[in-house]
Amino acid sequence: MNLADTLLSPYQLTYELTLKNRIIMAPLTRNKADNDLNPTQAMADYYAKRADAGLIISEATVIRPDAKSYSNVPGIYTTAQIDGWKRITDKVHANGGKMFSQLWHVGRVNHPSFINGELPISASETIMQDRVKRSEDLFYGKSRAATLIEIKELIANYATAAQNAMKAGFDGVEIHGANGYLIDQFLHYHTNHRTDEYGGSPENMAQFALEIVKACGEAIGYHRVGIRLSPAGYLNELVADKRDAVVFQYFLEQLNNLPIAYVHTGNFDDGVKFEALHNKTMTEFMRAFYKGNLIACGGYTFEKAAADIGNHNFDLVAIGRPFIANPDLISRFKNKLQIQEYSVAMLETLV
Ligand code: FNR
Repeated sequence: MNLADTLLSPYQLTYELTLKNRIIMAPLTRNKADNDLNPTQAMADYYAKRADAGLIISEATVIRPDAKSYSNVPGIYTTAQIDGWKRITDKVHANGGKMFSQLWHVGRVNHPSFINGELPISASETIMQDRVKRSEDLFYGKSRAATLIEIKELIANYATAAQNAMKAGFDGVEIHGANGYLIDQFLHYHTNHRTDEYGGSPENMAQFALEIVKACGEAIGYHRVGIRLSPAGYLNELVADKRDAVVFQYFLEQLNNLPIAYVHTGNFDDGVKFEALHNKTMTEFMRAFYKGNLIACGGYTFEKAAADIGNHNFDLVAIGRPFIANPDLISRFKNKLQIQEYSVAMLETLV
């Protein structure tokens, strides 16, 4: 089989789930849910048009009210939200697609004005400086450390969200552990200064993420759980620390012992090598320690992904921006047609 055919041929992800190709639609926040965070008909049409992907990963979806800090992102904690998602997964399935829900809590990337005047919850008390996304005059500011009771609640909230995703007809969930959001805040030294069982050592810093994976796995079956990680994704004001690599190494090695569906690189440019990751790219680093299905992401073309999968650098590729610009991306790949270039202006409307 040539390299292009490998990418476009079925891939058995788990014993239950065979994908029709190895091209995944990456999670892409579109801010088009209604004001109660309910998924809309326009979202159903948008996702259904992309059902040719081997697997669609939904845009990041909030697991509880304080988990969001952006307007009109969808939730998965009310009956109406679950019903809204069911209309989407039904349409995707009717078009022959498969879909996972990306479960999200922003942690410190939040502002008291969105959460009844409370400080945002995080691994530790920290300060963020940036202006709040999509706001004119708000700045992020201080977070507070979650108590042990709150940590247990959060873990239970992820498991409930995973169960809700099953009710909503998803084929599985992807735990959003990337991009400097809540779970990532526990995994990095810059944001985790705890001295209890959730901080202070690689084992402790990985504990929150590991307990979430286990809680979701026990709730819906490990084979329906994936996780997205960015060991060096310095978004949302995360700062590199050489010690982080040991935390991620430990966590990835622990994941080898759990029969989860996959690990997914959360990244915008997977060509970048990081000093903090022993001069490896994020996907190279993850491949070194994680033995299961690995999804790469970040700036991949069809040809590059095909070559890298041929070299066993990873098993599947997730594509983000080109899927926004080209609803029919898979057929363009198959037929070697030109790919329409993505532009930020495309985020205005769901097409
Ligand atoms: C993203 N990305 C992203 N990642 C994530 O884990 N959850 C999300 O909800 C989003 N939302 C999002 C919105 C928009 C508009 C962009 C451009 C990106 C990151 C995305 O999944 C992917 O990692 C990057 O887009 C890099 O892949 P491409 O676009 O180079 O193929």
